[in-house]
Amino acid sequence: MKKDKLLILTLILTWVSIIASDKNNKLIVNVDLGTVNIDKNIYGHFAEHLGRCIYGGIWVGEDSHIPNTRGIRNDVIEALREINPPVVRWPGGCFADYYHWKDGIGPREKRPSMINSSWGGVTEDNSFGTHEFLDFCELIGAEPYLCVNVGSGTVQEAADWVEYVNSGNKSPMTDLRKKNGKEEPWNVKYWAVGNESWGCGGNMTPDYYADLFKRYSTYMRAGQLFRIASGGIDSDYDWTETILKKTQQYGHLIQGYSFHYYSVYPGWAKKGSATQFTENEWFNMINNTLVMEDRLKRQIALMNEYDPENRIGLMADEWGTWYEVESGTNPGFLYQQNTLRDAVIASLFLNIFNNNAERVKMANIAQTVNVLQAMLLTKDELMVKTPTYYLFKMYRVHQDATLLPINLKCENYSWQGNSIPSISASVSKDDQGVVNMSLTNINPNKDIILNVELRGIDKIKTLTGEIITSENMNDYNDFGKDEKVNVKSFSNYKLNGSSLEINLPSKSVVTLKIK
Ligand code: AHR
Repeated sequence: MKKDKLLILTLILTWVSIIASDKNNKLIVNVDLGTVNIDKNIYGHFAEHLGRCIYGGIWVGEDSHIPNTRGIRNDVIEALREINPPVVRWPGGCFADYYHWKDGIGPREKRPSMINSSWGGVTEDNSFGTHEFLDFCELIGAEPYLCVNVGSGTVQEAADWVEYVNSGNKSPMTDLRKKNGKEEPWNVKYWAVGNESWGCGGNMTPDYYADLFKRYSTYMRAGQLFRIASGGIDSDYDWTETILKKTQQYGHLIQGYSFHYYSVYPGWAKKGSATQFTENEWFNMINNTLVMEDRLKRQIALMNEYDPENRIGLMADEWGTWYEVESGTNPGFLYQQNTLRDAVIASLFLNIFNNNAERVKMANIAQTVNVLQAMLLTKDELMVKTPTYYLFKMYRVHQDATLLPINLKCENYSWQGNSIPSISASVSKDDQGVVNMSLTNINPNKDIILNVELRGIDKIKTLTGEIITSENMNDYNDFGKDEKVNVKSFSNYKLNGSSLEINLPSKSVVTLKIK
């Protein structure tokens, strides 16, 4: 009898706690109030001459046994086309400030080689250069974003590159382009003036860089250019203020300002494993990602102060997770696997960028193939689509959609005395009036009931859902094996007029399509 009473009491208490916590989980979506466009370039990519990103990952050469189009892997082209890549940044990263573009044009057998001293000290034979990169962009349907060499290059070299790529007039540079097989200019819009000029891009002071930026930008002229200045370290607000102050009178020279953020745990000196991790690392990697929002908002606050008309875009042109390299691989190649945790983290980054889309005009995950938080991994002729790839596939619905204002209240996910919100969300409406709502439950142990109220519509007519989750938080897709993590359909919700009750499984990302 005593035992029975105890059981009943336990059941009542559990029920009460479920009701209480579920009441705390509420999302209000203002379907009729959106004004801000989520720039499709927030779903951008980054491909550097680093490890096997270009060589082996994208470029295999025309004579390769791996099926290719003019030297570019067909499997990679096809996979990337499926996620609608809007823009790709190239050739670096740190490599950009050591790269001399003229070495990468003309007959391949005549191109000089160099040592890639930024990454692994390997020989770079320059077989993938400007023409090959711009061909790759055309094949995958993306816009190119080029980064000029400020660290070890010259203003003339940068000006020549812009002219070679963009000018339709007769000149030695355009004659050279035509001689190399390209009659019409490509008209590349996005140009970065150096990369991480505070560090691998030349270890400059912000004052010195601001002057150099103006000098380079002045002579990079051909075409309608969108010039992007190098940001400082993510929390270096002094760098930002100096650049914005010193370029204030030169508005025509600056259109974008770069921001980089990597999630790393426990620290840069010794990073954790991509696949072998505990809940402690799960929590801390996610927490480190969420910390980014505060840094981003502080950068935005400074931009609002110096650029109240919102003319200069914040370009988060490097972001992602960074772990120890996979064992047995070259430490300079930054090759890492990619688990469900990375898909969850990518959703948090992208929700943050979406929700700050008024100022964030581009973001480029690092990097496209075989490096850091990659979309795709390759091993000879084999290719794997990572969980992050599937997240990008699921989130492509937000590209160029209208951001909807939301109000989210949710319970916390706690770990060893620290707490973070257990749900992250971003919601948009596309040009057909379809609402796409992305929701992440970061708690790896608990399903969460979320109540959603859609304001501004009377009744939901149709509803479909997709989910990314897996049995274990460190599940990943491996070569030659069935995929463990990909997109599946999701229908664990109840509909009531314009309200919804959604059961979000633990460690999952869900996107609902609402009409
Ligand atoms: O993405 C790897 C490196 O990280 C880039 O080359 C550099 O810009 C950043 O520090």
